[in-house]
Amino acid sequence: MAESRIANFGAGPSALPESVLVEAAKGLLNFNGTGIGIAEISHRSKEFGAYIKETANLIREQLDVPSTHEVLFMQGGGTGQFSAVVLNLLARHRLLHPDLPEHDRILDYVLTGSWSKAAYTEAMRLAHGATVRIAADSRAHSADGKSFDGLPPHSGFTFSPNPALIYYCENETVSGTQFAGEEGTPTSFPFHLLPTDAGLLPLVGDYSSSFMSRPIPRLADHAIIYAGAQKNLGPAGATILIVRKDCIVDVDAAAKIGGAPVPISLAYRPYAANDSMPNTPSVLAIYISGLVLKRNKALGGVRYYEEFNRRKKEKVYEVLKEGEARGVFKSKVREGEGSWMNIVFGVLGDGAEARFLEGAELRGMKGLKGHRSVGGIRVSLYNAVTEEWTDQLVAYMRDFIAEQSEAPATTTAMEA
Ligand SMILES: Cc1ncc(COP(=O)(O)O)c(C=O)c1O
Repeated sequence: MAESRIANFGAGPSALPESVLVEAAKGLLNFNGTGIGIAEISHRSKEFGAYIKETANLIREQLDVPSTHEVLFMQGGGTGQFSAVVLNLLARHRLLHPDLPEHDRILDYVLTGSWSKAAYTEAMRLAHGATVRIAADSRAHSADGKSFDGLPPHSGFTFSPNPALIYYCENETVSGTQFAGEEGTPTSFPFHLLPTDAGLLPLVGDYSSSFMSRPIPRLADHAIIYAGAQKNLGPAGATILIVRKDCIVDVDAAAKIGGAPVPISLAYRPYAANDSMPNTPSVLAIYISGLVLKRNKALGGVRYYEEFNRRKKEKVYEVLKEGEARGVFKSKVREGEGSWMNIVFGVLGDGAEARFLEGAELRGMKGLKGHRSVGGIRVSLYNAVTEEWTDQLVAYMRDFIAEQSEAPATTTAMEA
């Protein structure tokens, strides 16, 4: 099996560690000695009940999740959470401030790419009279005024004094920007600008494409952190949530005093009250995520991955810079504001991008085509992307630069 597998740089669903897949294949036939495969066993069995708790605890342990927060599994992916965070946090705000005029319930959105834009658009659909506002927009700080090619400077953020929700996307999978992991740097999320006298803050972080790739800054200050499993953790189908307990509210009580009814599958409380199983969970996706988490733990958890992922992205950004200097590649993101997980760039010259992708496939590398909305190349370097694969890609990029630079000057210089 191993020989037929290729280097997969796909943006999600994406590579999983081979040792986990081998283990999962055994579990498909016989889950934890039950004689029943994981895709066949009841989620109400004591074996799966213990497994889902253990998996939540592995997340708690590896990310240092405090006892103020629950770790939950839901379905519906990141898109489901675009809706769920709005509905649950508007209900919370209504219960806290029942007499506030509707338009004074403010949802603050930080726009840094197409995913935060999609979340903002969903908030507008579900606002139910509340005001959805933009707290920062990186496009306003781009050279052409319309590209998501970097992060807003701290001076570009303004937060409302008592918002119902403050939303940001930590890693923009399509445009390839990411807030810095180190606090207090110009490209970190500006926690220091958040309102200080509004009580516990309703801060929401979309970590879909960077979850478990490194520690989460100020995790305890978040109301909700969520991520689909399908990038760094497991197969599509499971959505992981870290939710502060004051955000797990009685949505029906809020509806009785004028709030919007919340679909039961999106209300957090039934999940918190039933070990994430008010109904059938995504058993297989949770199982494989659990195997990945056990492997992560043995390797050293998020601190291990932070160093591992740092090395990989440094290698790719370095060769990208070499290619830029030779007029072969062009980064789509400002220097220093690029993602560790998704590196996006263009290949200059007529047909050069297609040649780059073809050459990569011939050398056994796939998943490099950029998102259909922005084109170009996207290198996704999730946890399961090995250093060997990364080296293989970097060597190919270097060869490609050399080949293109040798091509007649008309192709590279003119089209650059
Ligand atoms: C940052 C981010 N948020 C949200 C989503 C949407 O997730 P899903 O496809 O699980 O609904 C994605 C999907 O790739 C994403 O990358």
